Amino acid sequence: HIYETSQTASKAVAQEIAGLIRERAKEGRMAVLGLATGSTPTRMYEELVRMHKEEGLSFANVITFNLDEYFPIQPDSLQSYVRFMHEYLLDHIDIKPENIHIPDGTLKREDVSKFCSDYEMKIKSVGGIDIQILGIGRTGHIGFNEPGSSNRSTTRLITLDHITRIDAASDFFAEENVPRRAITMGVGTILQSKKIFLMAWGEGKSNVVKRTVEGDISESVPATYLQNHPNVEVILDQAAAAQL
Ligand code: GLP
Repeated sequence: HIYETSQTASKAVAQEIAGLIRERAKEGRMAVLGLATGSTPTRMYEELVRMHKEEGLSFANVITFNLDEYFPIQPDSLQSYVRFMHEYLLDHIDIKPENIHIPDGTLKREDVSKFCSDYEMKIKSVGGIDIQILGIGRTGHIGFNEPGSSNRSTTRLITLDHITRIDAASDFFAEENVPRRAITMGVGTILQSKKIFLMAWGEGKSNVVKRTVEGDISESVPATYLQNHPNVEVILDQAAAAQL
């Protein structure tokens, strides 16, 4: 779906999420959302907060699982995805704290793999992710699944690609400050979601969008694995769609 602007596109995705939440609330059921960070989804989060404040959209029946987090990182540091999520969404809505899940950047190295398998189990125990939101990195990563990731990968500790660390350098005020690793849901985890929205804005994403949508499915562009998912929508503005 190609929209005039990222603003209208973000509103459309927020409407889809709100629709699911309301439908589930009527049935007395939970809605499970997979959430992303980065500049791409911020407008969508603003729209969800607006709907909460102005239209009474309640998040009392919502469970969230975030895609990824740098490792190691403290949750109160400027670049933490925990902090990001609270700032843009979680602090402004009525979600129950026990329903929020974000990979933990403060773990001891030896505790990471148990944390990752528990994360997978928690997702399964609530019936899987209903809607997964994705941005995309210049390397073709989804979450932090860098080139080389298998389509069956699960939540794990990964080493960040050099390009990803360059792209994050301004957030960390220098490339050497960017953590070398991250905890991310796997490609396999993401592909288990019932519905996926991949969002991308701006000319800078147009090349990776073309490779994702029109390229061969390959581990060198992990986002291409989405071509095999039965229920994925690619949400673009005009600039991101320019090379299609
Ligand atoms: C980071 C995140 C990804 C995100 C990507 C793109 O690498 N781990 O989940 O999709 O950045 O970021 P942006 O939306 O700022 O372009």
